[in-house]
Amino acid sequence: MDITPGNKIVLVGTGAVGTSYAYALMNQGLSNELVLVDINEDKAKGETMDLNHGIVYAPNAMNITQGTYADCKDAAIVVICAGAAQKEGETRLDLVNKNVKIFKSMVESIMDAGFNGIFIVATNPVDILSYATWKFSQLPKERVIGSGTVLDSARFRFLLGQKFATAPASVHGYVIGEHGDSQLPVWSRANISGTPIAGKLSDEEKSQIANQVRNAAYEIISLKGATYYAIGMGLARITKAILNNEHIILPVGTLLTGELGHDDVYIGVPSIIHRAGVKGVAEFSLDKAEQEKFAASVAILKDIQAKALF
Ligand code: 2OP
Repeated sequence: MDITPGNKIVLVGTGAVGTSYAYALMNQGLSNELVLVDINEDKAKGETMDLNHGIVYAPNAMNITQGTYADCKDAAIVVICAGAAQKEGETRLDLVNKNVKIFKSMVESIMDAGFNGIFIVATNPVDILSYATWKFSQLPKERVIGSGTVLDSARFRFLLGQKFATAPASVHGYVIGEHGDSQLPVWSRANISGTPIAGKLSDEEKSQIANQVRNAAYEIISLKGATYYAIGMGLARITKAILNNEHIILPVGTLLTGELGHDDVYIGVPSIIHRAGVKGVAEFSLDKAEQEKFAASVAILKDIQAKALF
């Protein structure tokens, strides 16, 4: 069956991340139709009203409505930002299993509605929940995309941009691996107009930047309780790449099937994004130390996957 055409988007989960994404979509005029779905119907209704009241100042017409899973039937993209947040005293694995359970009923309901588009998953732990979405939806892997390390890479490029007084868009570099503590910046490939960056920084500077990227979420959460604007922009960037059939390379979460020597794991790697989802993992080589760190990150995710209740 051909993939659903058009640009209708259903957003599931209207918390801070979901609504930041919706706001980015609206401001960038990326879609003509956005449906907001949330288990908390009042929240979805309030967000729908608030966004609609800004439409007059948006670059494009956009029909924003509150809806249900049934609206996924003819959606081009379903973006999932819903899920439980970690509670005090709860382990990471408790949270994984709670969200895997939520995702099972959510994804199955979306598929039962007749969805035939592309999933973008943002809920944490995003790599595990992207894998869960792929499993539960039974869609080809190309059509389930995790936000992966799109945010970590943006943080990396921002910090390097500051260091070299260069626009982040002109800094080329990726953070790969788990969207979490075992992620790694690929220093061997980071460059500004083709000139490698690694040699211009001391080991201490490099580890400082890597730590700043890795700890950014913790720092922001301790300062303001949550992170949402930057991931909203990242999700909008993935959406734009899909809808415009861009073939751009973005560090998203995709299922590895032998690429970089690994398989059966959703993890952040530079991937080519087009109208049908992930076209493939970009050709990308790592040095020996990076290969080892990446393998360690894969092992951490696989260990969680093995313990999670799929
Ligand atoms: C972030 O990295 C918490 O995943 C979220 O900002």
